[in-house]
Amino acid sequence: MIKIKNLKKQYGTDSAACIVLNKINLELPEKKFIAITGKSGSGKTTLINMIGLIDRPDSGVIEVNGNDILKFNKKEIREYRRKTIGVVFQFFQLIPIINCYDNIVIANEFSPKYEKEYFDELVEQLDIGDILNKYPEQLSGGQQQRIAIARALINRPQIILADEPTGNLDSENSENVVSLLKSVVKKYDMSLIMVTHDSDIAKEADLNVCLVDGKVLI
Ligand SMILES: Nc1ncnc2c1ncn2[C@@H]1O[C@H](COP(=O)(O)OP(=O)(O)OP(=O)(O)O)[C@@H](O)[C@H]1O
Ligand SMILES: [Mg+2]
Repeated sequence: MIKIKNLKKQYGTDSAACIVLNKINLELPEKKFIAITGKSGSGKTTLINMIGLIDRPDSGVIEVNGNDILKFNKKEIREYRRKTIGVVFQFFQLIPIINCYDNIVIANEFSPKYEKEYFDELVEQLDIGDILNKYPEQLSGGQQQRIAIARALINRPQIILADEPTGNLDSENSENVVSLLKSVVKKYDMSLIMVTHDSDIAKEADLNVCLVDGKVLI
């Protein structure tokens, strides 16, 4: 469960102030598919980056598993990034000079070793067996995103954060990637928090969080 209390983020000050999140309160249930929607500039990326500890709010509390993650020290932040969350980006963010296999397992470098059985299962689920030896530039967008999903899942995190993971894919690849993402997350009992512009995808979510004028509509 993620509990967000009075979360505030503003850019700039005085007349140039832009309040992106205006003391929002939210409870995100565990093991569900949560869609975050809202028009461009409404703060979707800002919100997800705060849950991922990529960015910090001005004030407020973000509780994950009962812990205030904003109070974490460096060691706890590292642990949180390794064990609790996995991130899927819009532009895949694969490392170009290593092959796909290494791109996946690099996320596991500093964590307890994944089980081979789990890795093989992921590979099968995501249908990436025949591209593991290739380099990212040799792949289509959909293939790259499936590798990035495997990387996000390799440490078996509790929560997957995905910021418009299909924003760069055509509609066919988009559907394929979303349905794979949903099915692997469900299979491994994880929570999926996904920013999307696509109302068809949002409709399939267990909970839809819409950001409007710095506030939340559910
Ligand atoms: N580093 C920054 N400095 C100043 N303003 C910023 C910064 N980052 C974001 N903003 C502003 O905060 C607001 C929210 O940005 P954010 O990226 O969270 O929106 P978004 O909902 O993800 O939009 P999109 O759908 O286009 O990705 C925007 O008005 C943006 O201009
Ligand atoms: Mg965004």
